[in-house]
Amino acid sequence: MSEQPTLLLAKSIVKSFGATSVLKSFDLSVRPGEVHAFLGGNGAGKSTFIKIISGQHQRDGGTLQFAGRDLGGSSASPADTGEIAVVNQELALLPHLSVAENIAMPRMQRALGTYSERASRALAIDALSLIDPQFARESVIRLVGELSLHERQLVEIARALRSGARLLLLDEPTANLTAAETGRLFAVIRRLVAETSLAVLFVSHRMREIRQIADVCTIIRDGKTAVDRAPLNAITDREIVDYMGQSVEPDQQTEVSLEAASDLREGHDTSHDNRGTAQRPIIVRLDDIELEIRPGAIVGLAGAPTGPLALIEALTGLGPKSRWDIERAGEPVKHRGPSGAARAGVGYISGDRANKGILATLPIIDNLMAARRIVERKKIARDEELRQGQALLDALKIRAGSLWHLPSTLSGGTQQKILVARWLNLKPKLLVLEEPTRGVDIRTKREIYALVRKLARQGTAVVWWSTEYLELVELCDTVLAFDLSGRPTGILRHTDVSEESLASATGMAA
Ligand SMILES: Nc1ncnc2c1ncn2[C@@H]1O[C@H](COP(=O)(O)OP(=O)(O)OP(=O)(O)O)[C@@H](O)[C@H]1O
Ligand SMILES: [Mg+2]
Repeated sequence: MSEQPTLLLAKSIVKSFGATSVLKSFDLSVRPGEVHAFLGGNGAGKSTFIKIISGQHQRDGGTLQFAGRDLGGSSASPADTGEIAVVNQELALLPHLSVAENIAMPRMQRALGTYSERASRALAIDALSLIDPQFARESVIRLVGELSLHERQLVEIARALRSGARLLLLDEPTANLTAAETGRLFAVIRRLVAETSLAVLFVSHRMREIRQIADVCTIIRDGKTAVDRAPLNAITDREIVDYMGQSVEPDQQTEVSLEAASDLREGHDTSHDNRGTAQRPIIVRLDDIELEIRPGAIVGLAGAPTGPLALIEALTGLGPKSRWDIERAGEPVKHRGPSGAARAGVGYISGDRANKGILATLPIIDNLMAARRIVERKKIARDEELRQGQALLDALKIRAGSLWHLPSTLSGGTQQKILVARWLNLKPKLLVLEEPTRGVDIRTKREIYALVRKLARQGTAVVWWSTEYLELVELCDTVLAFDLSGRPTGILRHTDVSEESLASATGMAA
């Protein structure tokens, strides 16, 4: 084993963005036939490094070798020749083309072949079947723009798996997948690794997953290699967290800092109107399921996306023709679109960060203030916005160059914090969250839990959809479970909420 030659060798890699120095002297090496976990906190530089290897960013210094060749200069990059395939953290499919076209196009180009629709479809079905044969048959002729985030993730992964590459770079590929899909992905990876000596560099913040799939890990911290190729069976979770620089007692800290941020709202509080209805639970009904969502409760939604998303659409005004009946204080609730819902006190954090959450062309300050502007429907003084924006960055420990920078200058997990920050000061009556800790590191996850718990204590009813059962077990007192076809199957309460019970109620193994 130890005699395996190195496939990728990165030495002393340096990279800055303007004044932000990200990689300071970073080393990493990958051998054929291994699954290599690449770990580090949000903003540590993982995606930046992956983009350097795949030729999307230029390094400022250091040496890179792939299969014994030096990379850089005029030689064709292995990403162009197809020897390296990448699934980026923010997906990169062409929305106006079909699934088949998206999967087949890169290979057609390489072979300089003519485009055959039939061949492309066959190729795409073949690729997608690795992960989900039914989805493969149903989806090939659909336009990518019509797919859900989760479906797009499957397409992107399938494309990479079928690429024939020698090194696969997977930047948080499982963040949008259900446990069952993750299981199938891992099975395919294991097979390819065993049969073709494929090497995989795998980024994830989910410790359990890392242990399931990876052989060794490299940890990045402060732009340098903190741990170099440690076998995972020789390093504990605690050590990993320590090396990432994440071992603090975050709950206490966050409590204090949110207090500070919400002080700014004294005197602007709009949440004490119609007290009467504000205190009443929301009741949601479908077929023989009836669930009460009380102020202060954190209600979990579990299961494959179809079911939870239909209820979320009904709650947030996105799906006016929903089959769900929603009622508060004996009155049916029908929101006219998400902004109507927002004004009625419903906060919503979409799981589709890139397309439905972050406003990519507007600076961070506008992203932070988006919800408040919609809710209050009046011009807010710039000074006040800037003051509050800065307070939110401080409270959530968001490292941003400036409030005027674009969100694309923030790492994936940090962008997620911005979405949560939007609602913090508004004290919504109901806050609906879709996978709010997707791509978020261990410490930030704790911070988001603490923030949401705090909102709940202030009287906000919370609805939280997660594909991570452990998260629902930790946070929720009540969980509504859905089966694979999207039907609600039952309500679990208190001690009944466990990973095992959720797995059996949703038909998806944990
Ligand atoms: N295009 C850019 N311009 C300016 N700064 C950037 C740019 N891209 C990344 N950065 C900064 O580089 C640092 C590393 O970001 P990167 O996305 O590599 O982190 P990451 O380890 O992938 O984090 P996450 O776990 O949140 O995805 C962050 O501080 C980020 O703000
Ligand atoms: Mg990243």
